[in-house]
Amino acid sequence: MGRVDPHSYTDLSQGIITHLDWTITVDFGKTRLVGTATLTLENASEGFLDLDTRDLFIEAIVDGSGNALPWELNETESFMGERLRIKYSKGTQKIAITYSTSPQASALQWLAPQQTSGKVHPYMFSQCQPIHARAMLPIQDSPKVRFSYTAEVTIPKKLTAVMSAAPGIKKESNDKNVCTYSFSMPQPIPSYLLAIAVGDIVSKELGPRSCVYAEPELIEASAWEFAEVDAMLKAAEELFGPYKWERFDFIVMPPSFPYGGMENPRLTFLTPTLLAGDRSLVNVLAHELAHSWTGNLVTNATMNDFWLNEGFTVWAERRILERLSGKNAKALAAAIGFNGLLNDIERFGEDSPYTHLETDLSGTDPDEVYSVVPYEKGFLFVSLLEQTVGRERFDQFIRSYIDTFGFTSISTEEFESFLESTLPGVQQKINAKKWIQGPGIPKNSPTFKSDELTTTQALAKGWSQGSRPTKEDTDNWSAELWQIYLQGLPKKLDIDECEWLETTFDLSDTKNVEILSSWLTIAATSSYEPAFKRIDTFLGSMGRMKFLKPLYKALYNNKNTKDQARTIFTKHAESYHPIAKAGLEQLLELNA
Ligand code: BES
Ligand code: ZN
Repeated sequence: MGRVDPHSYTDLSQGIITHLDWTITVDFGKTRLVGTATLTLENASEGFLDLDTRDLFIEAIVDGSGNALPWELNETESFMGERLRIKYSKGTQKIAITYSTSPQASALQWLAPQQTSGKVHPYMFSQCQPIHARAMLPIQDSPKVRFSYTAEVTIPKKLTAVMSAAPGIKKESNDKNVCTYSFSMPQPIPSYLLAIAVGDIVSKELGPRSCVYAEPELIEASAWEFAEVDAMLKAAEELFGPYKWERFDFIVMPPSFPYGGMENPRLTFLTPTLLAGDRSLVNVLAHELAHSWTGNLVTNATMNDFWLNEGFTVWAERRILERLSGKNAKALAAAIGFNGLLNDIERFGEDSPYTHLETDLSGTDPDEVYSVVPYEKGFLFVSLLEQTVGRERFDQFIRSYIDTFGFTSISTEEFESFLESTLPGVQQKINAKKWIQGPGIPKNSPTFKSDELTTTQALAKGWSQGSRPTKEDTDNWSAELWQIYLQGLPKKLDIDECEWLETTFDLSDTKNVEILSSWLTIAATSSYEPAFKRIDTFLGSMGRMKFLKPLYKALYNNKNTKDQARTIFTKHAESYHPIAKAGLEQLLELNA
């Protein structure tokens, strides 16, 4: 047995998928993908091939010459799904699996026209990270495996298909109602970066290497919000070396998209909640762009090493930010991140193994323990390395890290030994073991200072002693300062204190969702009734888990609103993405 990933049935000794040819029809009527995944294998010895699947209906499996291959589908093992074992003989290089997905596929969300901006056409999109690709196609669903791919996607003629790949030609078909889009992805990617969206989608060029996609209603606002993309791309290349994926396009998704962003190569997915109208949330685009180096080139071996993806990417995101907007901006971003880290450490408990950088998630659903720990503790650790060896040496280190491990997946251990051989002695000097294999935030954690930050944090701290900002004080506050201020207030306020905040600053009307979410969470914790209507519309307006979870949690943990939390959830549940829905059911203890 050569199983190397606790979240996958992949056994590398059986052979490795190096290429995928995917031919599918997107059936909106039956909310299914129907088609064939043809896998090209390397090092296939005679015997079995184990693939990951989840809720798939397997119809037929043949080899490259069309001979039927015997197969067997195991019982479901919770989030792992069902192991598909295919028996094949010597010389087999290709295996073609004809199948369809389930309407409940955890990787896919099927939106009724009502759930889109245009309200006329349906929409479908995928979210494969961390282990949902298997609900979209049978695959070795482990980041240890990388493959190039082509796709032929047949969809209703009025819609457009986009993928994490180079778009090819659009073909008409004999059936007048459909057409076929082709794609090719020459750079090998792990399965979690496979992505597709189908809907009423248009695009607008933003630079020589980038365009933005969105529904027509959002395209202008999206193009304006993210107009700085080319400057980001240039800054990132100066820092981390040439961009290896040719195009950096991105798509603004429907509101139910469960994340802020997803770094699908050549086609980052973004939540429309970033459209604040003032470019105040573009750091998410910088983050997904940074993954083009840290994550998509150098990939975590398994979800136990997830911090290698996210910790390095938050660090890289903030280096881009520093280059474009200066040290103060970076200090504010780090402070916001740090507050999130403290919250998650409190949620898990200070000694929890989920607060280690390297985790042991065997037997654990990675979605259930998703937190900002790998992001923000990872960022602090990478920053500590940078500060310890100095920027110049560290930038050389990062370049050589990316060159050495680009297009491969590495474990924490491999990272540690690379660190030791490239920057000998540093690990010991900063006690890296304590960071990587220990809980909480070690004492030698770096800090990021800014005068604005100090003043604003002090003002928030003084709340209980009666300190209040005036309207004039806040006139010049950036969105980041507002976030820092609200995060610094007591979690629960008196009703008249809520009243003062709301009437003085109109917080319920802000266009910045980060500020809105912080405020509504305070209001929910404080049982501030005038905000409840806004809380309800907010929870029904988008599916981004970063905002849904804390707000539902605040309602659910408050005895006055415990039942209401469930009522509101039941009302909106069908509009949430399967991943978000599952996460909220767990939070609200609605699991059967
Ligand atoms: N790759 C993640 C999103 C993700 C992680 C999806 C794990 C599924 C499983 C993406 O790069 C990300 O981190 N997005 C953040 C934004 C960022 C600025 C921290 C998000 O969605 O909030
Ligand atoms: Zn990320």
